[in-house]
Amino acid sequence: MSRPRASLRTAVVWEVLREALVDRVKAVGRETLDVLDTGGGTGNFAVPVARLGHRVTVVDPSPDALFALERRAAEEGVVDRVRGVQGDVHGLFEVAERGGYDVVLCHGVLEYVDDPVEGLRNIAAALRPGGTLSVLAAGLGGAVLARALAGRFTEARRALADPDGRWGGGDPMPRRFTPERLTELVAANGLEVGAVHGVRVFADLVPGALVDAEPEATQALARLEEAVAELPAFRSVAAQLHVLARTRSETDPVAETEA
Ligand SMILES: C[S@@+](CC[C@H](N)C(=O)[O-])C[C@H]1O[C@@H](n2cnc3c(N)ncnc32)[C@H](O)[C@@H]1O
Repeated sequence: MSRPRASLRTAVVWEVLREALVDRVKAVGRETLDVLDTGGGTGNFAVPVARLGHRVTVVDPSPDALFALERRAAEEGVVDRVRGVQGDVHGLFEVAERGGYDVVLCHGVLEYVDDPVEGLRNIAAALRPGGTLSVLAAGLGGAVLARALAGRFTEARRALADPDGRWGGGDPMPRRFTPERLTELVAANGLEVGAVHGVRVFADLVPGALVDAEPEATQALARLEEAVAELPAFRSVAAQLHVLARTRSETDPVAETEA
């Protein structure tokens, strides 16, 4: 994938995440946050987060990904702030600290785990009070739209009806989410759902020739992605969904209960 196209694919998430990190720094009164990147892979997010000065623990089952992460962290001069450990979300507390992190990332992982309910329960339990969760997962609507635009109408309809949102046996994605399903999963773990963004609404659908050689077009498309990201109609057809959530902090007012 070309560089402009790759940065287009992460721009919306990165903007939301960068703001969330700034908010967390202000809230905890520390410049350096403890960040856990579950299924962090080769460090697409972990390394830039470490470059902002935060300490990042990456938990991933793939030794190859962790090796690439180490090399990348060295190249970017952040080895002292990135720690890669082999593990997975189901046995998370064998390798990570329960309630030990200001921010937890779970990007592109819930699609692949054996049990997303249990996985997300562990991920939520890794947060400190008031901590921030950033979840990115494949969107069902985006896949339906992409199959239909490719002339694969039956596959598009199959994805709509399939409980996991898959378009057939050859679909490389094990599971997709609607915005409702993803936010329900997050809220079921006692987290307060904040912003929900659609990511890559157009980026994967626009022919490469229209953007790759045209920096202005790439920028204009990035601005368009940003403009539609929070609009429910577009969110529903995004290739990915991003949910920001947080645990209740010790200082949050306790909800009034009826006598
Ligand atoms: C699509 S990649 C996403 C990598 C990274 N989070 C990113 O956004 O670039 C999915 C990652 O999830 C990891 N993974 C798969 N199953 C997992 C599990 N049960 N627990 C934790 N990570 C898992 C894979 O090894 C892979 O690195």
